[in-house]
Amino acid sequence: MQSWIPFIPESASTVSGQVDALYFYLVGVTIFFTVLISGVLIFFVIRYRRRVAFEIPRPVAGSIKLESLWTVIPFIIAMSMFVWGASVYFAQYSIPKDALEVYVVGKQWMWKVQHTTGQREINELHVPVGRKIKLVMTTEDVIHSFFIPAFRVKSDVVPGRYTYIWFEATKPGRYHLFCAEYCGTNHSGMTGSIVVMEPNDYDDWLSGNANLESPVAAGQRLFTETLGCASCHKEDGSGGRGPSLMGLLGSEVRLEGGRTVTADESYIRESILNPRAQIVAGLKRIMPKIQGQVSEEQLLQLISYIKSLSPGKSSGIETTAPARSNNPSPGPEALGTGPADEQRMNPIGATPPGSASPAGAATTPASPAGNSNRPR
Ligand code: CUA
Repeated sequence: MQSWIPFIPESASTVSGQVDALYFYLVGVTIFFTVLISGVLIFFVIRYRRRVAFEIPRPVAGSIKLESLWTVIPFIIAMSMFVWGASVYFAQYSIPKDALEVYVVGKQWMWKVQHTTGQREINELHVPVGRKIKLVMTTEDVIHSFFIPAFRVKSDVVPGRYTYIWFEATKPGRYHLFCAEYCGTNHSGMTGSIVVMEPNDYDDWLSGNANLESPVAAGQRLFTETLGCASCHKEDGSGGRGPSLMGLLGSEVRLEGGRTVTADESYIRESILNPRAQIVAGLKRIMPKIQGQVSEEQLLQLISYIKSLSPGKSSGIETTAPARSNNPSPGPEALGTGPADEQRMNPIGATPPGSASPAGAATTPASPAGNSNRPR
């Protein structure tokens, strides 16, 4: 549904009204001064035109009053834009603590979504209306940009780090999702939908896709079995060669050389992939690099497991409690993100660059494939 003003997409989130108001203010001020200045210009050109050849104009002396006026008024206008713009910016980019967390991984040319409850989607994101949603986003390859015009939110996803946006949808419906950063041949086809549902419908949707392994459980399996992290990082920190990761998320970590950093998702990510980049004070350089052994989605699973070891410091989501399991190591194929599985949940993934894939292919609702991908 289009808004009543042409060129303005529908407004369907708690911040979209604020963004529009600021936008109209900027446009209004611009139109006002464009009309004023051109009007005065035309008027003066006619009024003070040269009427007699060799006419010498009267000298003009400066006027402090006039100069102060045209300095102070534009200053106030410019500052009003700054203060208003900054307040909208902070409202939009400070992530609320009680938001429902969803992981997003961009990839040429699709959006892969993973819910903390285990549901996965491709090019679709189901969310409940009236609930704050926080997206933790990254990309497998190049820079993409996650853009929901109706919510007025957009954020680049950047290789090697996490970016965050949040929104609270105010109206149920289906809204466009675009990639807003040129990312290769099928950039224009890298679209999808945000499906905003009434809470009851959302619960139905969740339960219709239940019995999936949550990212926390998948991360724990990677941690204890596949990658064997748990042989050094014991849960209680006893006898392990590595530190306990209990309560790590959000804590201050002292590094070699005296620097301290906050252990956020990006810090944990780097410590997994390249542990020697930031050595914690007092520890030896013995942890092997994991780089190349885990996919971006597996990294998000590991991080959500490590987050689940810091109860209270997570972002308020109810994560499934880590389930003890003594199964033999399932191998990467069974983890849901191994190559075979990836292919199954990825209807357009094998499209080589430059091949003639119809642009519509990327918008094919992929939830059935995405949701039934659990191999066991
Ligand atoms: Cu992804 Cu453009």
